[in-house]
Amino acid sequence: MCGIIGYAGDENAVPIIVDGLKKLEYRGYDSAGIAVFGEGGFEVAKQKGRLAELEKRLESLPIAGRMGIGHTRWATHGEPSDINSHPHLGSGSKIAVVHNGIIENYKQLKERLEARGIPFASQTDSEVVAQLAEHYYEGDLLDTVIKTTNALEGSYALGLMCLAEPDVLVAVKKDNPLIVGVSEQGNFIASDVPAILKHTNRVYYLDDKEIAVLTKDSVKFYNTDKEPLAKEAETITWSVDSAEKGGYPHFMLKEIMEQPKVVRETIQSGINIDPLHITAFNKIVITACGSAYNAGVVSKYVFERLCRFRAIEVELASEFRYKDPCVDEKTLVILVSQSGETADTIAAMREAKAKGAVTLSIVNVVGSTLAKEADHTVYTAAGPEIAVATTKAFSTQLVVLYKLAVQFALELQKLTPEGAKALLEEIAAIPGKITELLNHVDDIQKYAASCIGYKSIFFIGRNIDYAIALEGSLKLKEISYIHSEAYAGGELKHGTISLVEDNTLVVALSCCQRLYPKILSNIEQVISRGAKVFLVSNVTQAEESDKLSLLKLPDIHELFSPSLSVIVLQLFSYYVAANKGLDIDKPRNLAKSVTVE
Ligand code: AGP
Repeated sequence: MCGIIGYAGDENAVPIIVDGLKKLEYRGYDSAGIAVFGEGGFEVAKQKGRLAELEKRLESLPIAGRMGIGHTRWATHGEPSDINSHPHLGSGSKIAVVHNGIIENYKQLKERLEARGIPFASQTDSEVVAQLAEHYYEGDLLDTVIKTTNALEGSYALGLMCLAEPDVLVAVKKDNPLIVGVSEQGNFIASDVPAILKHTNRVYYLDDKEIAVLTKDSVKFYNTDKEPLAKEAETITWSVDSAEKGGYPHFMLKEIMEQPKVVRETIQSGINIDPLHITAFNKIVITACGSAYNAGVVSKYVFERLCRFRAIEVELASEFRYKDPCVDEKTLVILVSQSGETADTIAAMREAKAKGAVTLSIVNVVGSTLAKEADHTVYTAAGPEIAVATTKAFSTQLVVLYKLAVQFALELQKLTPEGAKALLEEIAAIPGKITELLNHVDDIQKYAASCIGYKSIFFIGRNIDYAIALEGSLKLKEISYIHSEAYAGGELKHGTISLVEDNTLVVALSCCQRLYPKILSNIEQVISRGAKVFLVSNVTQAEESDKLSLLKLPDIHELFSPSLSVIVLQLFSYYVAANKGLDIDKPRNLAKSVTVE
């Protein structure tokens, strides 16, 4: 994971880099650091802990320079500590490096360098890049970067500065994201757009092994044979405000509240891909990680019900990639991802392509690896999502998947044009219903405040309600640190019910009218064992009792009901965590974009 940023320009790089790191902190937050080209060479500040700790240090020991690199870390090799923080310098302090990724052959490289008498300061894999570059340097940083990256195995996005070339910042990437931003005030590198959006909306997306050489006035691109590359800048349409909290206490709450707008925009932007001819396929596999996987599980119910398709599977990308999956040219593999950079999902896509499958990615970040490498891409219009816990990106993924299911069902002649039209109208009504639901924020907030003492919270549902229960449970544990599990209601009696006792809360989802009697018996089973129940439902018969609190949802087609239940589940988790006083946008041990295995 980790976030990197670099700046070469006319202004002091330090506040620009610190501000950019704030936007990248979602990528890792166990330590941070900055190196700038100061009057007398490199000036470095590195600090274990949140970025705020680095800021404090910079206040007491300021550094300044017009070119610099910064890093926010999610530790992989070496504990979070000042010394393991980036930037790393070579032992002669001639090269400074920030790195996002994992250098897989770092041990061999380190041993070779140590055998030549080069001392290492940290336990990180990243330091080897700085040491190697310094070892190879013969007067040209671009040559050095080519030579260095040729020796590296693994993944990297790198920003490098060299003491002998005070005007030059070099960047290169492989299997980790890196963009180059250009502006009148200077040029930038960054792991993600929000870090530099305040300064520019003109960016270049680096492809693997492309090298960018930046000065304050110019940006040039090269391949690893040192041949110049012509690249086109893209204009980012995200507004500057979209990457700011806008008065909300947390990005997560802001992003929850943005859902009517971004879901509407995603529905309206349509599915602009070449016809897939679904009739040519005999299998659909949806693969993803975390919440994106949960969106896939929800959609399996929708695809199955609408398309009556022979085989629809949902696989965790981390499992799919290693199971020698049964996919071929007659398989459509759908990859779902907010970032488009999740390592396991990218690997799953590559595995599927290698076996001849056709790949379709549903991605939020333009120019990301999944977007670029998949055969087809549909973008969600969630805008930048900063909170580690996904909310709006998940909701936009759902509506894209619903629309795909309707499109496929029509093509497969399982729906008439009228039937498809009616369903599309139902989908178009979702944003309005989310707005309606958001009027109940106070009720959810009040209820959540009474739930912070629970040791364990179970989420249950049947059919598509079970699918969305998975997301409710993930959201809760991710940000509130309360133990939680999701179960299909009918499964409880096969083991899990033994865990239900007095201090247990069961959140029951029920938007399948036909299955209400079934979930009701599960509810009765847990109440009789001491549990309290929070029922989220739009079923007409649903009612409160002394052991059961009810949150009524607007009426909606059963298949699209997850788009409403999830809003309640997100708000519930949010307010439980907020009442516990937790760091909601940056939960412990997590990072938003999981670019390592
Ligand atoms: C969800 O709240 C998580 N932060 C996480 O499960 C996330 O959905 C997962 O890591 C996949 O990320 P992606 O959508 O960027 O691929």
